[in-house]
Amino acid sequence: MHKAVILVGGPSRGTRFRPLSLNVPKPLFPVAGAPIIEHHLSALAKIDNLKEVLIIGFFEDNVFANFIDHAAVEYPNINVRYLREYQALGTAGGIYHFRDEILRGNPTSFFVIHADIACDFPLQGMLDAHSKHRGLCTLLGTKVPREQANKFGCLIARPETNEVMHYVEKPESFISDLISCGVYLFDSAVFSEIKAALDNKKNAHEENDYLWSAPDDRLRLEQDLLRPLSEGKKLYVFETQNFWRQIKTAGSAVPANAAYLEKYAAGAPERLARKKEGSPDIVGAVYIHPSAQVDPSAKIGPNVSIGPRAVIGKGTEGLRLALAVHLIDILSMQAGSCILHAVVGWDSRIGTWARVEGSPVQGHSTTVTRNGVKSQSITILGKEVSVKDEIIIRNCIVLPHKELKASFHNEILM
Ligand code: GTP
Repeated sequence: MHKAVILVGGPSRGTRFRPLSLNVPKPLFPVAGAPIIEHHLSALAKIDNLKEVLIIGFFEDNVFANFIDHAAVEYPNINVRYLREYQALGTAGGIYHFRDEILRGNPTSFFVIHADIACDFPLQGMLDAHSKHRGLCTLLGTKVPREQANKFGCLIARPETNEVMHYVEKPESFISDLISCGVYLFDSAVFSEIKAALDNKKNAHEENDYLWSAPDDRLRLEQDLLRPLSEGKKLYVFETQNFWRQIKTAGSAVPANAAYLEKYAAGAPERLARKKEGSPDIVGAVYIHPSAQVDPSAKIGPNVSIGPRAVIGKGTEGLRLALAVHLIDILSMQAGSCILHAVVGWDSRIGTWARVEGSPVQGHSTTVTRNGVKSQSITILGKEVSVKDEIIIRNCIVLPHKELKASFHNEILM
C-alpha cells in the first residue's frame, strides 16, 4: 500500500504569489481549470493501491474543507485529509511530526510532493525505478538551462545507476544542470534517518548556539535530509523528460497553465473548448469554464483558461485573448480589447479597446530586463481591478481594487 503527502506551506509563505494569494491560498489557485494541488491529486489517484493523501501545512483547518469535499466526490478511491502543523515545521519537520498518521496501515512507501509545482508527475515510473534499487528515496529530477540551475537543488548522479552522489541546495557556482523537482518517493524506513537528522540538528544547536537561541523543531527536507542520504548510497534520481515548472511568482502560473493545457490537448482533449458553429474562434489549447459567457466574435488562444462566470463581451472587430493568458472570474471584457501573457483576477473589468499585456516567459524566469531594469514579464491584475477604455497596461503587477485611468509600463501599482 502507498500513501502521499502534499506539502502546502501556510499563509506566511507564497508571498511571491501576491497579489493573487491575497484572495486565495496559492495551493488552491486555479490553473488550467483546477486548483494547483488537484493536478497532484489526479496523478496520485492513478496509482494502484495508493490509499491516502495527507495535505500537510500550517493554514487554518477550514481552508481545505471545500477542496476535500470535492476530492471525496472526484477521487472516491483515495482518502484525503488535511493535517495542520502547530507552526511552520519546515519541509521535513511536518512529515516527522505526523509520522504516526503516515505510517498508519503500514504503507511500504509514500510520495512527498511540493504543492508549488506543475508537472507531468511520472509517479508510476518512479515506483518502478524505486523497486529496482535499495535506496530509501527516489527523487524526480529534470534538466534546466545551465544559467538557471543555481536557483534549484542541484544533484550529481552516477549515470549507470542513477545513485545521487552529491546534492546541493541552490549552489553558489554551477555544479549540475540536473535538479530536484520537489517530488520524492520514500521508503517507510526513512523515518529513522529523519530522526537522525533531527538529532544532528539538536546536537549542533547544543554545541554552538544554546546560549543565544531556543532550539526549534524545523527540519528542511533538502538540506537536512537529502544531503546525508546522498552521502550513504540511499538517494536515487528518476529523470523526467516531460514538462516541469515551479509555481513561485504569480506570473509563473501562466507557463504552468500552458503546460497543463498542452497536456490535455495531447491526452484529454474533451477537457478543452472546441470550435463549433457560432462559437468563438478557438486557437490551440483553451479551457473555458461552463459558466463563462464568451461572445462568438472573440478570438481565444492558444493556452488560455477562462474561469467561472467570466463575461467576454461583444467585439466590434473581435476581442482577442491570446498566448498564455490566464483568466479567472472576469466580470467583463469589452469590445476590441486584448489580453496577452497576463493573469486577470476575480471580478476585474477590461474596458473597450484596452490592452493588458505581458511578455513571453523565458525558460524558468518570470522577469525581463530592459535597459538594465528588471520587471515582470507577465502582467498580473489582482481582484476587482478596472482598466478603463483605451488604456494600455504592460508588464505591470496591479494590486486589488485599483481603477486604472492612465496607461502604465513596468510598474507595481499599489
Ligand atoms: P524557495 O525557492 O526559497 O521558496 O524554496 P523551495 O523552492 O525549496 O521551496 P520551499 O522549500 O520553501 O517549499 C517547497 C514546498 O513546501 C512548497 O509547496 C511550500 O508551500 C512547502 N513548505 C515550505 N515550508 C513548509 C513548512 O514549514 N511546512 C509545510 N507543511 N510545508 C512547507
